[in-house]
Amino acid sequence: MRFRNAVVFVTGGAGFIGSAVVRHLLEDTEASVVNIDKLTYASSLDSIPGAAGSPRYRFAQVDICNGAALGRLFDLHRPQYVMNLAAESHVDRSIDGPGEFVQTNIVGTFVLLQEALRYWRGLDRGAQARFRFHHISTDEVYGSLGREGLFTETTPYAPNSPYSASKASSDHLVRAWRETYGLPTIVTNCSNNFGPYHFPEKLVPHIIIRSLAEQPLPVYGDGKNVRDWLYVEEHARALTLVVERGTVGETYNIGARSERTNIDVVKAICTLLDEIEPSPAGPRERLVTFVSDRPGHDRRYAIDPSKIERELGWSAAETFESGLRKTVHWYIDNRQWWQTILDRGYKAERIGQGQSITRDEPSSPSSPNRNRRVIKNSKADFPAPGRQREPD
Ligand SMILES: NC(=O)c1ccc[n+]([C@@H]2O[C@H](COP(=O)([O-])OP(=O)(O)OC[C@H]3O[C@@H](n4cnc5c(N)ncnc54)[C@H](O)[C@@H]3O)[C@@H](O)[C@H]2O)c1
Repeated sequence: MRFRNAVVFVTGGAGFIGSAVVRHLLEDTEASVVNIDKLTYASSLDSIPGAAGSPRYRFAQVDICNGAALGRLFDLHRPQYVMNLAAESHVDRSIDGPGEFVQTNIVGTFVLLQEALRYWRGLDRGAQARFRFHHISTDEVYGSLGREGLFTETTPYAPNSPYSASKASSDHLVRAWRETYGLPTIVTNCSNNFGPYHFPEKLVPHIIIRSLAEQPLPVYGDGKNVRDWLYVEEHARALTLVVERGTVGETYNIGARSERTNIDVVKAICTLLDEIEPSPAGPRERLVTFVSDRPGHDRRYAIDPSKIERELGWSAAETFESGLRKTVHWYIDNRQWWQTILDRGYKAERIGQGQSITRDEPSSPSSPNRNRRVIKNSKADFPAPGRQREPD
């Protein structure tokens, strides 16, 4: 059985992808999991329904910028694997408030690397050889593609948003800790995920939830931006394979060869909902509304997953269509999960137009939300169509 006697640290395990990794580790392996999560707005412990009763699961509400707290967890639980998924992950939010992205994605990864290194240096040789630090990153670090071409592991980094720049920075730190200190690290860069337990601000759940409520469906720009979609459970499966069998010092790109324009994704959701829960008012495509584009909106992402397919035998079993069908059913059947998030105050308002930014210096762990000032210009309150958002 996989991961027998292994302790796995999953940071960000209450988030979208992290929770899929925790569910997969608990359901399909023998790993003991320590979920390390600060519990930001984007988290939900309800995303791991099987965790509460499992003797192989521990949760620690800890900020990855807090080295002392991380150090205690390393010394207490003695992990063999660290999977770093804790991050600020929403591009639109990074445009309005980049400081939090610098803090968690760059400083947090640095602090986690330092604590992992300190712990790793204290292990015996055998345990040192088995230890892995797996950093989970995104294809957005590669920038934007034209009509042709795919991102490979050797594509030069060219991040365009504060989010992707912070992720690119953290990837470089991870590489440097391997080259300089010998820490056994691996990096993966993945395309856009979708699936169950996805926070309502992201494109797919946002469109499903608004469609169900008969609200306008905002599409940025001309809707022709292309993303390469991967069902989240396929990503979780790929990540556990990489941490277990990947080669130290390597990068693996993860994707399902499923490019779709944003407008096609929105229309596919409308069609599925019309089939599963027809609206008396008629087909949902009538709700589509084009809104002004996101600043610096990358045109096209597409992953070449040949390396992970060839070297680790992974490929995505779920197609975009089958995964989307499952996802739409899940949001219809699990209204309580997302209604709870809406009830706790999340509002689907348009952000990320670069007109309202926070002045927030990266913080020390002891003062998490300090020195934060909102700087707005007079247009910060958007007119009606701009209140809708279409994130990815
Ligand atoms: N969502 C995607 O499509 C996608 C694609 C490729 C890569 N990724 C990467 O995968 C990782 C996970 O993405 P996601 O979509 O699950 O993100 P998410 O926003 O859904 O979840 C992030 C989790 O990290 C936690 N967190 C945030 N700051 C923290 C901190 N300082 N300390 C501890 N925990 C903290 C949050 O509470 C949350 O539970 C990210 O690194 C992201 O860059 C995401």
